Amino acid sequence: MEKLRIMSVFGTRPEAIKMAPLVRELASRPEVESLCCVTAQHRQMLDSVLEVFDLKPDWDLDIMTPRQTLSTITSKCLTGMDEAIDTLKPDMILVHGDTSTTFAGALSAFYHQVPVGHVEAGLRTYDKYSPFPEEMNRKLVSAIADLYFCPTMNNKKNLLKEGITQELFVTGNTVIDALKTTVRPDYHFETEELNHLPYGEKKILLVTCHRRENYGEPMKNIMLALRDIALAHEDVELVYPVHLSPVVREAVDSYLRGTPRVHLIDPLPADEMHNLMARSYLVLTDSGGLQEEAPALGKPVLVMRKETERPEAVAAGTVKLAGVDRQTIAAMVGELIDSPEAYGQMAHAVNPYGDGEACRRIADAILWHFGRLEERPGDYQPAG
Ligand code: UD1
Ligand code: UDP
Repeated sequence: MEKLRIMSVFGTRPEAIKMAPLVRELASRPEVESLCCVTAQHRQMLDSVLEVFDLKPDWDLDIMTPRQTLSTITSKCLTGMDEAIDTLKPDMILVHGDTSTTFAGALSAFYHQVPVGHVEAGLRTYDKYSPFPEEMNRKLVSAIADLYFCPTMNNKKNLLKEGITQELFVTGNTVIDALKTTVRPDYHFETEELNHLPYGEKKILLVTCHRRENYGEPMKNIMLALRDIALAHEDVELVYPVHLSPVVREAVDSYLRGTPRVHLIDPLPADEMHNLMARSYLVLTDSGGLQEEAPALGKPVLVMRKETERPEAVAAGTVKLAGVDRQTIAAMVGELIDSPEAYGQMAHAVNPYGDGEACRRIADAILWHFGRLEERPGDYQPAG
């Protein structure tokens, strides 16, 4: 029997981190030819992930330009995908999450009548503009997809509410699979500065911020809040790997650079980031992925956004929404720095997002869908 040609399409850092273990898992299956097409919506940040996970794409659209717009990303991906699909002839295309690459990848697959598997399906805020444009991207992909790999039962319920009832699999999030391969107690950082941070003596606050809906006033407020925190607490060090977006870099330069106890560094390779998180006291972020990783490592997270599509760790008590107001963010961080009780209530490891077996379940579900496996994989169930 011919091998199934399963093509994973991704373009940004988080998609790559979360798809890398799946590309590998598929490659380990004798029934599958695992193909990898990158749009390179991100260039350097994608290449860094490809290097960490030792992935060699079969196709590279190389679309990134500085300050790219949503329209240019989508149109370049769509045009480029035509040739990739015509040449690589996949039996199924896998897309991940909610980026512009995800949307364009799914739409292109549909134009070529290739079935689509959506990894990380069913996340919702039900607010069209937050996160922007991700909430709409993932809804549009839900309309196109044939197979849905939901990280949690809650994600599956969202899809059921929308009338999507077939081919839903609860798998856990593949980011936990990735995390299991990167975090090690004896890890030595390539970025020398990270080997010399005062872990244990001071509280390391790990920061990231990049979302489009935070561009402008919210991002200014966030930067000023970070500045307030660093100035008010001598026992902290803020470590902030700054996203390569020029909009983010301008905000950092205008409002945060030069503040004592703030380390502004370049984006970190995924393994360094994960190990730094494991040694941090607290995570401050507007990122999606960090909201999933930090709880698994027992690190409290304050989310600098108005809402989240990841309510599971909020319910478990390890993630709190801090919003985008300067005083509120500074006050919430202050409480976690000064009150051991408040910190203790949030700092416990929970794993609502996966058990490290998501890729196995997804690969099994694909084989089952194509009649190459008799048994449908069981759903992921969080422990406890
Ligand atoms: C994108 C995703 C967002 C995801 C984020 C992860 C969309 C619409 N947004 O947002 O969902 O959370 O990636 O980080 O798909 N740049 C570089 N080098 C890089 C990467 C980015 O120079 O390796 C700069 C470029 O100037 C680029 C800009 O950053 O134009 C913005 O990148 P873009 O992919 O458009 O948006 P993100 O904010 O990264
Ligand atoms: N990450 C990384 N290096 C960094 C910052 C983040 O490897 O300097 C990782 C992080 O651990 C997570 C992913 O990138 O796995 C999250 O990506 P990002 O915050 O860019 O996007 P989002 O998850 O918000 O879509």
